Amino acid sequence: MTDENVDLEVRLEEQEAFEPPESFVEQANVSDEGIYEEFEENWPECWERAADMLEWDEEYDDVLVDDDAPFYEWFTGGQLNASANCLDRHVEAGRGDNVAIEWEGELGETRTYTYDDLLEEVEEFAATLRDLGVEEDDVVTLYLPMIPELPIAMLACARLGAPHSVVFAGFSADALATRMNSADSEYLVTCDGYYRRGDALDHIEKANEGLAGVDHEVSDVVVVDRLGDELEHSLSDNQHDYDDLVAEYAGASVEPVSRDAEDMLFLMYTSGTTGKPKGVKHTTGGYLSYAAWTSHAVLDIEADDTYWCSADIGWITGHSYIVYGPLALGTTSVMYEGTPDYPEKDRMWEIVEKNDVDIFYTAPTAIRAFMKWGAEYPQEHDLSSLRLLGTVGEPINPRAWKWYYKHIGNEECPIVDTWWQTETGGMMITTLPGIGTMKPGSAGPPLPGIDGRIVDVDGNRVESGNAGYLTVDQPWPGMLRTLYQNDDRFIEEYWSEYSDPDSDEWVYFPEDGAKIDDDGYITVLGRVDDVINVSGHRLGTMEIESAIVGVEGVAEAAVVGGDHEVKGEAVYVYAITEDGYEEGDELEERVVEGVLESIGPIAKPEEVIFTPELPKTRSGKIMRRLLEDIASGNELGNTSTLRNPEIVDDIAAQVDSD
Ligand code: WT7
Repeated sequence: MTDENVDLEVRLEEQEAFEPPESFVEQANVSDEGIYEEFEENWPECWERAADMLEWDEEYDDVLVDDDAPFYEWFTGGQLNASANCLDRHVEAGRGDNVAIEWEGELGETRTYTYDDLLEEVEEFAATLRDLGVEEDDVVTLYLPMIPELPIAMLACARLGAPHSVVFAGFSADALATRMNSADSEYLVTCDGYYRRGDALDHIEKANEGLAGVDHEVSDVVVVDRLGDELEHSLSDNQHDYDDLVAEYAGASVEPVSRDAEDMLFLMYTSGTTGKPKGVKHTTGGYLSYAAWTSHAVLDIEADDTYWCSADIGWITGHSYIVYGPLALGTTSVMYEGTPDYPEKDRMWEIVEKNDVDIFYTAPTAIRAFMKWGAEYPQEHDLSSLRLLGTVGEPINPRAWKWYYKHIGNEECPIVDTWWQTETGGMMITTLPGIGTMKPGSAGPPLPGIDGRIVDVDGNRVESGNAGYLTVDQPWPGMLRTLYQNDDRFIEEYWSEYSDPDSDEWVYFPEDGAKIDDDGYITVLGRVDDVINVSGHRLGTMEIESAIVGVEGVAEAAVVGGDHEVKGEAVYVYAITEDGYEEGDELEERVVEGVLESIGPIAKPEEVIFTPELPKTRSGKIMRRLLEDIASGNELGNTSTLRNPEIVDDIAAQVDSD
């Protein structure tokens, strides 16, 4: 450890609470503590404040309709268009020259889109999609990496009232097919390839493989040419080159389609307890006002800021806080195509310095990697433009929080640790940066208007200082409306644990454990279902298991998350070989291959442990907790309730020896 690090440890280690600097508070979008009470007393009308961030074609009649709870409806009767809110209104207000998207490719090339430029390209692509036959309510799948055509396609869909379903580019062909099938999606926008650590990756091959697995007719595929001559690819009959199509519509104008507030804006698939991904449905009015409101109140974004969220648009963070929230506020949103350590480990800080980034939002896993690489990388750059820092995706350990605070924020920027989910649409638990004391490791109180509680198994609030389950007892505008074409599963997954349907009391259960302190600050501990969080990415252990048992030679498998220094959690596989098959490197390779093929590199197993048996209770349930402890190197608890306690030491010995 360097002297400077020792110094930081000594000075910051003890400090448990941090106040936002006066200079920040003075300029903060929200700095009046009374906002919590104001929202509470004036609920649900308080949410008009979120709706007011948007421009409506038709005013809404009611803020909230709860007649058919938990199928809540927000801003009913209102009409609006999301792309008009993110583009046209800024142009009409004379801010067309403001930069909307500042894109940087991995190889260093840049593309700058002003609001004028972005509107123009969105209209051209909307005209293209319409010409291909895309109509209101058709689901368009976007399988694109971090290139400007992704937000352009999203906004073009929104303009037409066609919901998009973005599939993370790192997902496998199988994952693409599953999502297109589930959404009956007949249109795909993808690209030839993209760069990763300087290498050109073939993406169209994966897209084509996925298309082969789609069980209905796909009418058109639009292919963005990202790599030029670098990658030869041919297009089949229903596949079109993006540039060729758009060129035909140069200068086209497409009127934004007025959508009902409750009309679907997009679908986003996420992992759950079962093997089948859930199609989370978000709407136009509630989602967009919530994304805009939280961008304003929590990220403190203003139109003249340069703001950078380093997530991938393929996840909800990128939807809400690279595209919809920031653009609704008319700010400059930075978009980076590549990896944080390419070509060097200072790439992020180079981008911050070059663009004078004011606000930076990233994930704890990235911060832990920066920390491991060392403070010398940020030190090479002038980061003084930064005013606010944020984190999202998983719990942040206090050490990483303090490193971020000191080495990136120079002890001058508040940090917002924002807890939320794909399903919540936007942030739910975090301090407001101009108001709240920050406590490293604890996200903070629920946002104004959000009724977050920590309860015991019976649904009673726990006393402060205790741990329990996180619930949300009142609806909010950004909430998912249902799981696509599966209302039953929606109720079962989120509303069955703590609700009392007989008395029409509905409680949302996010499947997270948490504890609460005397000040009402919530520390989120992690998932209590079979979902693990690898580098801030949500993975269903069942999904991974079903990929593994599909591998020839594997009889049974259990997948758990084990602690990992940088990733937070990593995938550990315990597998039983089928009779007649040998465990060993070859089978291990095929297990890994099976996971990559069915999900993608994000789910790549850290370790595959072969065992003749899995630890099971007398009733035959796999003791996952025990497998987690083994993977994490924790002390093992009582194994006496097992049917086969002897197996535990065998497995543990194997993990140790690796
Ligand atoms: C799960 C949701 C929200 C966008 C990214 C992930 C965990 C998220 C935090 C945080 C502790 C967090 C929870 C949650 N999580 N943010 N600040 N502190 N845990 O979205 O893929 O839907 O995953 O991520 O476990 O349930 P997601």
